[in-house]
Amino acid sequence: MSRYPFPGAGHDPLIASMVAALPARQQPQWPEPSRLAPVHERLARESPLVSYTSVRELRGLLARAAEGEFCLIQAGDCVELTTECEPCDVERKVEMLDVLGDVMRTGSGLPVVRVGRMAGQFAKPRSDDWETVPGGRLPVFRGPVVNAPDACEEARTPDPSRVITGLEAARCAVTALDRLGRGEGAAPEERVWTSHEALLLDYELPQVRRHTDGGSYLASTHWPWIGERTRQADFAHVRLMTELDNPVACKVGPEATVDEVLDLCAVLDPHRTPGRLTLIARFGADRVAALAPLVRAVRQAGHPVLWMCDPMHGNTVKTPDGLKTRRLDTIMSEIRQCVDVLAENGERCAGLHLEASPDDICECEGAGRVPVRGPGYRSLCDPRLSLVQAVAAVAHWRLPVGAAAV
Ligand code: PEP
Ligand code: CO
Repeated sequence: MSRYPFPGAGHDPLIASMVAALPARQQPQWPEPSRLAPVHERLARESPLVSYTSVRELRGLLARAAEGEFCLIQAGDCVELTTECEPCDVERKVEMLDVLGDVMRTGSGLPVVRVGRMAGQFAKPRSDDWETVPGGRLPVFRGPVVNAPDACEEARTPDPSRVITGLEAARCAVTALDRLGRGEGAAPEERVWTSHEALLLDYELPQVRRHTDGGSYLASTHWPWIGERTRQADFAHVRLMTELDNPVACKVGPEATVDEVLDLCAVLDPHRTPGRLTLIARFGADRVAALAPLVRAVRQAGHPVLWMCDPMHGNTVKTPDGLKTRRLDTIMSEIRQCVDVLAENGERCAGLHLEASPDDICECEGAGRVPVRGPGYRSLCDPRLSLVQAVAAVAHWRLPVGAAAV
């Protein structure tokens, strides 16, 4: 049953304007920025998608995960489509998280916190602003809250009305979770939490809310994360996270220096609070050794961060005909190494962050699948694991010997 609107949580314009004044990477070039003002106003007036209470609740669970009481599975689309947030879509995604959670619980003997890349994973960072197409170039697809994927100028032109469509789709998804008994008010072991990369500031900033209890939080999701391309400590995305009571996560890749990661920990977890900060390692199977000095430095600085493994984003390659893909054996190799490097340095790999779909897709290679252009290859961004492949990946994850006995 939906419990909206949540009381006592109006828009927090001070944080929004302070963050909006900072430099920000990966934002679209809106052709008519004046069309954004009414969009911001509408989003700021909307009731929150998630409650302050539930955000605090997840933070409490993650604190217990940091103590070794829980494992975590976080999975879903690379780019979530606003057209795939209907109850039937949400039901399939929840079933997938349940299957993956069960595999993880069987392997670890620990209860599992299930987190969807869903109900807001609509905006994508891209390595180039432009895509070369026959006869010229087009603005790149930045996710359905910005533009459309079709290869023509009109589709690729950023359209502010899409930001509203995103909010409506996210509302549809969280309402569907509630109706399944897996949302607001569900017991921790039943609950599916929402998460997404807090990337598009025009979507996120109007959804910063000040609760009457005194705290401010991002009401667009339970658990926002910062991507590898927007984790500059003095830029808008990190600064936004510093102001929020949500638990927050940050991706960390092989280019990250010890100083950068320590700076991030200092601003995102100033009080060294278990459950506040999760670092999601995404190094690539051939570069996991570079994780070790970061783990040691964070540990030495006394930050009780949760470490998770994203074995997807460092392992993207191309098929002979130019499709983006990932190999299941490489993904498994990164999982194995990540668990070991963390254990060797006194930490635990608390769980996995995967791009996976319950649909009958063929985007990653392995478990009998070889991706080719065609109906099985549907991702508009990164290649996702099929359910069978994702089960194999999760079955490969393990706690270091002895850790499950906590
Ligand atoms: C993602 O999770 O889809 C993503 C873009 O990740 P990263 O920031 O780690 O590259
Ligand atoms: Co991705």
